Amino acid sequence: MHIRFDQAELRFGDRVALQPLSLSLTELRIGVIGLNGSGKTSFARLIAGLAKPTAGTVTLDGLDTVADEKAARAKTGFIFQNPGHQIILPVIREDIALGPKSRGLPATEVERLVEDALARFGIGDLAARRPHELSGGELQLAALAAVSVNRPEVVIFDEPTNQLDLKNRAKVKAAIEGLGEQAIVISHDLELGADFSRVLVFHEGALVFDGGGQDAVARYREIAGC
Ligand SMILES: Nc1ncnc2c1ncn2[C@@H]1O[C@H](COP(=O)(O)OP(=O)(O)O)[C@@H](O)[C@H]1O
Ligand SMILES: [Mg+2]
Repeated sequence: MHIRFDQAELRFGDRVALQPLSLSLTELRIGVIGLNGSGKTSFARLIAGLAKPTAGTVTLDGLDTVADEKAARAKTGFIFQNPGHQIILPVIREDIALGPKSRGLPATEVERLVEDALARFGIGDLAARRPHELSGGELQLAALAAVSVNRPEVVIFDEPTNQLDLKNRAKVKAAIEGLGEQAIVISHDLELGADFSRVLVFHEGALVFDGGGQDAVARYREIAGC
């Protein structure tokens, strides 16, 4: 999918979360790094239509995230930094079924899609569980199943491996690597994006580097002073 920012800006009153940005993204894997407060989540929320640019435009394959809000949003899936907040139904299986059900699909088709999504991310054993019983890594995978069942063209991950132990980190990393969809991955986990061919580095609301993963990590280290 072609994601395009045209002088898109996001501000909250006097505070500039993202300075006017023009950018074109088409790669299958795109990394986003930067210090806390550098504008990464703001950038991601603009793509997903969860925030509206206060100036300029953001388009997905030509669809404007404001003027064509519904069609544009259908192209994206967003995994929140705390995915526990996006699993809204009491049981994982029901939560994954929510999207297909709301599209009015027949019950048998909903069931098939849910089973596919559970199998795809290897979480069949979590289907009957409640979100508060799951570990951080399990929640990430459950949220990913609930998002991917809606067939988004791009999936956006906001710091997916934060607070995960090594084992869960490996699981989530493998799930992202195996994803057929385009993915935008915001992360402080330098391993996660280092192999991506395109990584964006944000600093104080501005894009300060746009290039290969290794060079992006070097730039990020320079900014962080370590
Ligand atoms: N809803 C909001 N209201 C006011 N300021 C915000 C809001 N969301 C983000 N900001 C500010 O915008 C800047 C960028 O935030 P954010 O995009 O969340 O950064 P990051 O994800 O890189 O940590 C920060 O200074 C943050 O305080
Ligand atoms: Mg953030």
